[in-house]
Amino acid sequence: MNTRADLESAADLPSWAPSPREYDDLALALDGILAEITVVAPPDAVPAAAGVTAVDLTDLEGTPVARLWVTRSAPLGRPVGPADPVSTAGSAPGAERWALTGPVTPLRPREDGVFRHLHRSPSQVRADLTGDTSAGTVKVAAVPVDGPLDTATLNRLAQTTAAYDAVVLLPLVGLGSPRGVSAHTLVRVTAAAAGLLPTRPLVVPVPLAARSDADEDTALRLLVASAYGEPVELADHSDGGDPPTWTDLGRYPAPVADLLRAEHPPAHRRGLVVFFTGLSGSGKSTLARRLHDLVLERGDRTVTMLDGDVVRRMLSAGLGFSRADREANIARIGFVAAEVARHGGVAICAPIAPYAGTRSDVRRMVEAAGGVFVLVHVSTPLAECERRDRKGLYAKARAGLIKEFTGITDPYEVPTDADLALDTSHLSVDTATSAVVDLLTARGFLTAPGRDGSPGRP
Ligand code: ADX
Repeated sequence: MNTRADLESAADLPSWAPSPREYDDLALALDGILAEITVVAPPDAVPAAAGVTAVDLTDLEGTPVARLWVTRSAPLGRPVGPADPVSTAGSAPGAERWALTGPVTPLRPREDGVFRHLHRSPSQVRADLTGDTSAGTVKVAAVPVDGPLDTATLNRLAQTTAAYDAVVLLPLVGLGSPRGVSAHTLVRVTAAAAGLLPTRPLVVPVPLAARSDADEDTALRLLVASAYGEPVELADHSDGGDPPTWTDLGRYPAPVADLLRAEHPPAHRRGLVVFFTGLSGSGKSTLARRLHDLVLERGDRTVTMLDGDVVRRMLSAGLGFSRADREANIARIGFVAAEVARHGGVAICAPIAPYAGTRSDVRRMVEAAGGVFVLVHVSTPLAECERRDRKGLYAKARAGLIKEFTGITDPYEVPTDADLALDTSHLSVDTATSAVVDLLTARGFLTAPGRDGSPGRP
């Protein structure tokens, strides 16, 4: 068996980029907050995982940042200790992947993380606060922060921490951690709130990833806070309260409210993805084009059109119509649509998108980017699509000249989660488009016609 010294010089240890959650844990371990971490090894990286004694973990670019010294390993499906139950939960026994657990050592300084320049390890904070003299002990209050601090909480915090020499606010910016705001906004609002406190707290973002278990979350918050000082909990910020909304910004001090307002634009300025799905010839493109024109005529929003056939010429050139290729096609559309939504734009998509799972993935991507996803099922029946057969493709499919043709020899999974279903065999283009505009207006994603001088709708 290799010794640590042997491995220290080993150039060809297995190495890979851990999952975002594991990467967060890695950062905590490198700061000395977690004693060990658990990572899941991909099968190609660790062919004989049971015997592996060390692996290198890389950043997203593939640069090794840390070495994990494996003290325990287990095939997935068996518990491997408390470090990361989430990544091992629910896996079938006998799976090829392995969970590897152990302490880590740094290979080079990390250069990433939310508000990198604010990052301080517990020992750096201690050094900063005690100074060179390190004469007396400094009483430090360490406060985990997982949501924007409102005025009442800030007042309470000022009282609770008055007796301390220093206060460290720890915005928790790990995966899934901040509630209702982005990680960057959580740090910004925490810094703004810190500026209002007489103690002028230090703000140190900590990438503690949320667990699925509330008790474990609480225990880890305590662990993090204890590493930085004496834990002080903001009781009503750990009760799973709702994320801040447009209407309750009055609860926050002005500098915090301004930052929250910037991140929570009103519904009619949020990113919006209108996703038409339906059979070939159902009328998706026609409705999408009309909606596109209407939004442009209103002039209050920018629009990107991601029509099925156009996407296939540009974004998805080279892809065919196998399940894998269709899924890749929709994933690409979803990726672009989510980026459009991230910047507050409108994306109108009109692919067949026959698989429910892929459509849900797009919904998730858009929502994760802060956008709104509206699914419109263009439910024109196959018989009508085939009767129209504008491109002559159904005839070819029936004649066996086109394989895997949706509705003929390939599946279409009818949406059960559509916001609207429109059968264009009964509806004119204008009526169908108006139904979409009405829905978007009713939900506040478009302003009511004429309110801002725009013509609104036909
Ligand atoms: S999807 O399944 O990946 O969503 P997409 O909307 O991009 O499909 O492309 C569908 C268009 O490709 C149809 O409108 C039709 O013009 C053309 N097409 C060519 N072959 C097929 C096929 N086998 N099945 C469905 N559409 C096809």
